[in-house]
Amino acid sequence: MREPTLLGRTAARAALPWFTALIAAAQLGCEGANGGAPPSKAELGELLFHDPNLSKERTQSCATCHAPEAVFTDPRPLEGGIAAASIGDDGQSLGDRNAPSAMYAAFIPPLSRGSRARFHTDPEISLYEGYLGGVFLDGRARDLAEQAGGPPLNPVEMGMPSEEAVVARLLEDAEYPSMFRALYGEGVFDDAKVAYAAMSDAIAAFERTEAFSPFDSRYDRSLLSKSDPAHYEYPEGSPAARGRDLFFSTEATSCSACHLMHQSDGPDRARELFSSYEYHNLGLPENQTLRRLNGAKTDLGLGGVLDDPTQNGKFRVGTLRNVALTGPYMHNGVFQNLSTVILFYEHAKKRARGESDASQNPETGESWAEPEVDENLSTAELSRGSEDLSRAENLLALECFLVSLTDARYESALPPSLVARCGL
Ligand code: HEC
Ligand code: HEC
Repeated sequence: MREPTLLGRTAARAALPWFTALIAAAQLGCEGANGGAPPSKAELGELLFHDPNLSKERTQSCATCHAPEAVFTDPRPLEGGIAAASIGDDGQSLGDRNAPSAMYAAFIPPLSRGSRARFHTDPEISLYEGYLGGVFLDGRARDLAEQAGGPPLNPVEMGMPSEEAVVARLLEDAEYPSMFRALYGEGVFDDAKVAYAAMSDAIAAFERTEAFSPFDSRYDRSLLSKSDPAHYEYPEGSPAARGRDLFFSTEATSCSACHLMHQSDGPDRARELFSSYEYHNLGLPENQTLRRLNGAKTDLGLGGVLDDPTQNGKFRVGTLRNVALTGPYMHNGVFQNLSTVILFYEHAKKRARGESDASQNPETGESWAEPEVDENLSTAELSRGSEDLSRAENLLALECFLVSLTDARYESALPPSLVARCGL
């Protein structure tokens, strides 16, 4: 049964996804009962997020490529069944990057350059110096609001010709004009730039709501006090428990160097984002299947945005929250399975150490392809780790720990056989 959602305003609208009711119930509280209360920016943002009228052919909304039921990623398969990149509103244009989840994106800091102390005992990699943060995988938007203004005007996404054209669509709507005026002032439509910025601001407000960042995976629940009814205990000796120890170990693996924002035993550990928001070139291969479809050229990542060759091939570290359900992986969706990502790190370690490696990419059945951008590799970090990740026991353990980062709402979407194998 669907609860009435946003102050009854959406009742007249086409049914929004099940997720809407959930957010509304969580956020509105008693305000929801008051039909006369002004809407919040987040509520307006939610309507905009789901509104295909913001795209040229009216076929696409943010939710098309960031579907709530698919952890806010794009579930649509491309030719051959892969889902590495997104088809735009024209039904043809194909991007070159894998749509990341919009979940936890609210925590990405603005792009900056500086240094950060890592919680790492190895002095050679205990300090990171370089770029940090920025929204999009190459950091080109400062924050969520600037990001939200991008897709409507992106020719391979929502394809609108100008800010004015988008604002004209807002004005066509029966409800937006009064909602915008109530929230952003009577004169908000006098200037298309102001109205466009208000739209982006409302979408960002929606993305900053708790529904996008619940912090309630098994890992989070394991940090609650034992007396809390929601407390979760990793079963002792289970693959998932072992994977957690491998992941956090600065000896056994390199993961914690790049994927930890907070000290693992510090006060902020309950809000761990599993990304440091640093930039690295891991030496990933080109996604040849995708390039055959879209004909795109080398993706320089941060180096392309800054026009700085010393940053070529670098992409922002992704969060690992909900990662078990957000495949394919990496900025170009080159790997379909999490186990392939882990095996790739083992390969990258050997390469960084200058050791020969006869291992294969299990998805191609061939030896690992050369890096798409063979410069600026994060050799120091990638060479670390005493454990062989391709050993079956280690591979399963790390995958299982990543599975345990799935938020409660999505746990039922995990394959039950995997959950059982992990001992979760
Ligand atoms: C056609 C598919 C498509 C549409 C429509 C779309 N996005 Fe995206 N989104 C992507 C892709 C692909 C990326 C990664 C692009 C990149 O890094 O260059 C992305 C990146 C993002 C990010 C950055 C996440 C991160 O980790 O940096 C956010 C947030 C986001 N989109 C929100 C939105 C919002 C809000 C809308 C609607 C205004 C929207 N998207 C519309 C495909 C889409
Ligand atoms: C040198 C820093 C670094 C180290 C060390 C590292 N990662 Fe990553 N990780 C990254 C970056 C950067 C990305 C995004 C790369 C891209 O998209 O091009 C990433 C992406 C991932 C992804 C895919 C996320 C997604 O949504 O596509 C997974 C899974 C992952 N890492 C797991 C691990 C594990 C497990 C380890 C330890 C074995 C590890 N990483 C070690 C920097 C690192």
